Amino acid sequence: VHAPLIDPFARPITYLRVSVTDRCDFRCTYCMAEHMQFLPKRDLLTLEELDRLCSAFVGLGVRKLRVTGGEPLVRRNIMEFFRAMSRHLGAGLDELTLTTNGSQLARFASELVDCGVRRVNISLDTLDEGRFAQITRWGRLPQVLQGIEAAKAAGMRVKINTVALKGFNEDELFPLIDWCADQGHDLTFIEVMPMGEMGEDERLDQYWALSDLRTRLAERFTLTPLAERTGGPARYVRLEETGQKIGFITPLTHNFCESCNRVRITCTGELFMCLGQEDRADLRSPLRGSLGDAPLRAAIRDAIGRKPKGHDFDYSRRHVAGQVSRFMSHTGG
Ligand code: GTP
Ligand code: 5AD
Ligand code: SF4
Repeated sequence: VHAPLIDPFARPITYLRVSVTDRCDFRCTYCMAEHMQFLPKRDLLTLEELDRLCSAFVGLGVRKLRVTGGEPLVRRNIMEFFRAMSRHLGAGLDELTLTTNGSQLARFASELVDCGVRRVNISLDTLDEGRFAQITRWGRLPQVLQGIEAAKAAGMRVKINTVALKGFNEDELFPLIDWCADQGHDLTFIEVMPMGEMGEDERLDQYWALSDLRTRLAERFTLTPLAERTGGPARYVRLEETGQKIGFITPLTHNFCESCNRVRITCTGELFMCLGQEDRADLRSPLRGSLGDAPLRAAIRDAIGRKPKGHDFDYSRRHVAGQVSRFMSHTGG
């Protein structure tokens, strides 16, 4: 056994997010540009290489693996990867899961369950078909709703991720809550982060602080803060009137970097130590350079040794600081 991964701020790294493709069938405006230049397929790690890389992390103490993208379910033969990762469940790994836009879930839900996936996070910013097509640039809401339905029917716990967007879904706060209560889904709101090429004014215009959202919520419901965590950045409350669990991911108004337990790998084998920083480490070279994993483990340890304290995102004083030019789809949020 190997010593666990501990970063310079004494944070144990036990959560790995792996982006298996930079491609997506949608183009959410806060995530991607309309015309994206995708990576040539030959630059991608193969599924076997992704397996070896993730398995090395499990050997170093990672207990939670989340598959992301782009849209993870558009990667060819991705179920082979889930199948391969499922061998670690109960043997190092506590949870194998994914974050998806839901468009392909109708097709894959039961297979995912078969691979040990118990919980899925699905992005959904609006319940209005027109608005959905607008924010995703061409996505079809009914297709996603079918996917969500299929996930539930297959027995997965569903968590809906909603990016809070001023002037876009402000008026859907209660409809979204009611819909999730009705369907039995958990719901988490996310503050929009300044990544990609969107300009400062546009960013500020769409930014809706979750402190404000929470105030509005408290006008209608009794909120009981919950101590429980899912190993991710969300903090949860229970709505006493409905028993629902609502999460808040607040990188701007309430930074959670202090308890960060995660790192990300991209589909080309780059390791990002922080979502909101540009520093990265190349893991593809040690992966391809040696049949043994010792150089790979050394490269991972070295990178964790320079994990930064946190991001620099800041929207205060009507100015966006800490902007990262990388698109969110590159590292999967
Ligand atoms: P759970 O396992 O349900 O807790 O999921 P999770 O919140 O860890 O994963 P999910 O993919 O649902 O993450 C939701 C969003 O939270 C991401 O897409 C990001 O926008 C944001 N997020 C996750 N981790 C971080 C982080 O380390 N820093 C920042 N700033 N945002 C993060
Ligand atoms: N800020 C916050 N969340 C974002 N996501 C994508 N781009 C951003 C951003 N700029 C979210 C998606 C999805 C998850 C993968 O990341 O809505 O839920
Ligand atoms: Fe695709 Fe998700 Fe990005 Fe939307 S947020 S463009 S669904 S990767």
